[in-house]
Amino acid sequence: MAEPLLSIENLSAGYGDIRVLWDISLAVQAGEITCIVGSNGAGKSTLLRTISGLVPANSGRIMFDGANIANMPPDRILATGIVHVPEGRRLFRGLSVRDNLLLGAYLRKDDTAVKRDLDYVFTLFPILQERWKQDATTLSGGEQQMCAIGRGIMSKPKLLMIDELSLGLAPRLVERLGEALLEINRTTGITILLVEQDVITAFEIARHGLIIETGRVSKTGTTEALSGDPAIRQAYLGV
Ligand SMILES: Nc1ncnc2c1ncn2[C@@H]1O[C@H](COP(=O)(O)OP(=O)(O)O)[C@@H](O)[C@H]1O
Ligand SMILES: [Mg+2]
Repeated sequence: MAEPLLSIENLSAGYGDIRVLWDISLAVQAGEITCIVGSNGAGKSTLLRTISGLVPANSGRIMFDGANIANMPPDRILATGIVHVPEGRRLFRGLSVRDNLLLGAYLRKDDTAVKRDLDYVFTLFPILQERWKQDATTLSGGEQQMCAIGRGIMSKPKLLMIDELSLGLAPRLVERLGEALLEINRTTGITILLVEQDVITAFEIARHGLIIETGRVSKTGTTEALSGDPAIRQAYLGV
């Protein structure tokens, strides 16, 4: 198998004296959709924040595209091609949908390609084009998630990390967003790392998965294999 795009080795991290992640090792293959699932408080968001440089790593390595990015400043990590769509979407109040999307491209100098990517986001999510002038924070929850994902695409990442795609959204919308992620992955080849509390949704979208329990990776495998695991079925799928 080819070298993974992202490979984490023995990572520990937390907040001040509070250790949250313990000896995390994982690999994300280029071009794939991988999910991280686990209960509330397991450390999923902390893991994404450590990858994107918002939480310091206490030990271990985060190898991305051939370089150790652990403890690099967040803007440099973004420049290496990792974008983080945070839990709760965090769009900028007072800025239009279009300006929120363009903020994702602030490091880019290739104006023609930026315009093309904006058109791509509008094709992917036509509602954003209809609402382009509207304050992004007045969109519905599902539309805000589309805008946050769109903003991520606008930075032309190699790795798109999404924290809680489905949070607070109706099942129909979650399905629509899942289809959009599959389409993004298929048409642009962007590697996707999806964090989800909704395990059924995550397993439908992703090909590979890992389970985090109290800050440790407890299982990894294809989502097909994980869905067939009796312990996982009982703990996370309720069957
Ligand atoms: N800013 C913070 N300061 C201190 N502890 C935090 C902070 N954010 C999260 N935690 C703690 O880290 C643990 C993991 O949280 P989190 O990564 O948000 O889990 P998840 O995303 O899996 O629900 C929890 O015990 C939580 O209370
Ligand atoms: Mg979280």
